[in-house]
Amino acid sequence: MTEEEKQKQIDAAVERLNAKRDPEVVAKEQEEARIIAEKQAKNHSGTEAARARINPDFLIDDNPQSHIKHVIGVVSGKGGVGKSTVTASLAAAMRQRGFETAVLDADITGPSIPRMFGVHGPAVGDGTYMYPEVAGDGTKIMSINLMLDDEEAPVVWRGPVIAGVVKQFWTETLWGDVDYMFVDMPPGTGDVPLTVFQSLPIDGIVIVTSPQELVQMIVKKAYNMAGMMNVPVLGVVENYSYLECPDCGKKISVFGESHIEEVAKELNIPVMAKLPLDPKMAERADNGEIYNNSVDPFDGACDILSNL
Ligand SMILES: Nc1ncnc2c1ncn2[C@@H]1O[C@H](COP(=O)(O)OP(=O)(O)O)[C@@H](O)[C@H]1O
Ligand SMILES: [Mg+2]
Ligand SMILES: [Zn+2]
Repeated sequence: MTEEEKQKQIDAAVERLNAKRDPEVVAKEQEEARIIAEKQAKNHSGTEAARARINPDFLIDDNPQSHIKHVIGVVSGKGGVGKSTVTASLAAAMRQRGFETAVLDADITGPSIPRMFGVHGPAVGDGTYMYPEVAGDGTKIMSINLMLDDEEAPVVWRGPVIAGVVKQFWTETLWGDVDYMFVDMPPGTGDVPLTVFQSLPIDGIVIVTSPQELVQMIVKKAYNMAGMMNVPVLGVVENYSYLECPDCGKKISVFGESHIEEVAKELNIPVMAKLPLDPKMAERADNGEIYNNSVDPFDGACDILSNL
């Protein structure tokens, strides 16, 4: 018997049973079932395009109560280039534009998102779901740091365990309605970023670089990984681009001339933002109020994200 025939038999049996029941009760049940079905259909997180790209065997379940419209992965070649700063700043900038924002901290071995947003654990749950912490600007945060008793304790878990935690953060956190979720990916192109790309409906990635790096190589590596996973590259952000002279406002390229424009042009991706080296930015991040930084440098990036 085919699935379709089976379903027909079930439908017929249900109809026969219902014929013997109070029509008002049946109508009420059917209406309830319709509302649940509608809700479930609506609650699919991620865009159609992002979901279609993923092998259904790998796509992980949504939290039935969450509806996340757009998921953006933020990647870098190595640690320390400002990936978390950019992730947090993008969320803050989109938040200022009136969107519901969230950050899923998938950089389990170097989780710095809660500190930057000034939120502390432990995150609470209700036995079924975990609640994200909410930052001063309204951005919702989930991070391994919110699960640990000792925030300073280093996490030494191995790849598959880490990937499992990230999936749990997706499925078991009560995210609610989110327009833009930013995922702070582990640096590099290892197992964890691959698993995250394979399991979450990611709309696109943002690559963070600094002028001190072999930008060409790093951007191409990330670009290739995204290509392999069929994830579009939305653009690249250059951090530590320049220093602004406090006296005359002149922009000084501390780390030499940047090659980001050339590389971006070659790959046909936009330079989404160039961030100055700004001690005040680091200070606000340290004080847990990264969302009080000026979001002006992210204007172009926000335009791109708003059009997704
Ligand atoms: N543009 C910047 N100006 C000044 N300090 C910065 C800037 N970007 C990042 N930092 C600081 O550098 C450190 C590393 O940045 P972070 O975003 O944590 O890097 P990553 O996530 O790539 O490891 C942090 O202390 C952060 O506050
Ligand atoms: Mg980081
Ligand atoms: Zn000057």
